[in-house]
Amino acid sequence: MTVSTYTPADVLDPELHASGQVHRLWRWMRQHTPVHWHEPGDLPGFWSLTRYEDVRNAYQNPAVFSSAQGVLLRPTELGVDPGSGRTMALTDPPRHRALRGQVADRFTERCARSLADEMRTEIRSVVRRAVEEGTCDVVHDIGARLSSYNISRLLGVPPKDREQLLAWSTEAFESGKPLTSHVALMRYFIDMMYARMETPADDVMGMFVDNEVQDELLTETEILLSCENLVGASENAGLSMAAGILALAEHPQQWQQLVRERDGELVRTAVEEVLRWTSSATHSMRTVTADTVVQGRRIAAGDRVVLWIPSANRDESVFTDPDRFHLGRQPNRHLALGTGEHVCIGSTMARHQMRMLLETLTELVAVIEPDGDVEPLHSITVNGPAHAPVRLVPR
Ligand code: HEM
Repeated sequence: MTVSTYTPADVLDPELHASGQVHRLWRWMRQHTPVHWHEPGDLPGFWSLTRYEDVRNAYQNPAVFSSAQGVLLRPTELGVDPGSGRTMALTDPPRHRALRGQVADRFTERCARSLADEMRTEIRSVVRRAVEEGTCDVVHDIGARLSSYNISRLLGVPPKDREQLLAWSTEAFESGKPLTSHVALMRYFIDMMYARMETPADDVMGMFVDNEVQDELLTETEILLSCENLVGASENAGLSMAAGILALAEHPQQWQQLVRERDGELVRTAVEEVLRWTSSATHSMRTVTADTVVQGRRIAAGDRVVLWIPSANRDESVFTDPDRFHLGRQPNRHLALGTGEHVCIGSTMARHQMRMLLETLTELVAVIEPDGDVEPLHSITVNGPAHAPVRLVPR
């Protein structure tokens, strides 16, 4: 059972993800072993699902595919994720629905529209700054900056502190350790939490503090874990934006077409194609609550199942010419933002932000070109560049 020199066990090799070769392995797994068991090692044993249909079905069946024991692969020695059964991403219905309802108001289409002017001004200023500098690192200077500003605004971090928050979250992501181990970042959230307890405010931190979930307030630990959950999840948005710009730099004809058709339907389909192509969240994990069968293989209650999102998004039975970056792709029912009960709560914001970024780039930039070696992330959890020097030539 091999594809050239790789075996399914290599799906856990961060080097294979960094090189992009993991797509060759996933293609082979989709065909030959779409439901594959991995023996326990440093990680617990788990099943890999690589086909679109199986990944989607697992997402859409939370009664059998539970999130409450964690949603990311984690070395056994680290024990259970501290957020298990407590934060939005790591709970099942009905508690999950109540937690999501606590803050849902801040993630609606209406809310995203009301922030549009502010977001557009911010995106213009970030892109102008990158253009003026000639060469920028699209990961830090554009992607991480915009996603960090966005999450800061939602949480209620005042504009004067947003660069500081960006610096701390960048340090935390680069260290590869849990966000909760970044002392300054967590101290900042603790102070903010106590400030909201004194003086209520109409922002997500205020909602974590004041809105009851199933008739009870969240504990302080739950509030902090929820902040961690939000900041961690938003890393995906920064990576998608950065990897999207990089993809445009690497596909100049697609970029030129986007510039020509910037006022039409292409921008909408481009947002979806960038999300599919970049698939910045690499996997979601579930724990099976009752024996179940997938593609004829029996998965026992208690087994872990890993859903490989970029693999589902390149499933040749669903996407025509899946390895082609094609901005006009339609239909494009990718799973980059998950689906079902836990579908990304930030998806509306992320789509608006991506759209405005593409519009701003086509307005201010004539040419996007790679300007040095891209350093990829070495991770099986998030996918994209770690650093990517790109030159944005002004219009
Ligand atoms: C392109 C950008 C993004 C991508 C690719 C992405 C990806 C995902 C995926 C795949 C899930 C499902 C996880 C699962 O079911 O286990 C998810 C859930 C989630 N995302 Fe995102 N996300 C993005 C942007 C954001 C942003 C901007 C925020 C915050 C403002 C956010 C916050 C969350 C939260 C809190 C959840 C858990 C929702 C729940 O469990 O009900 N995400 N995201």
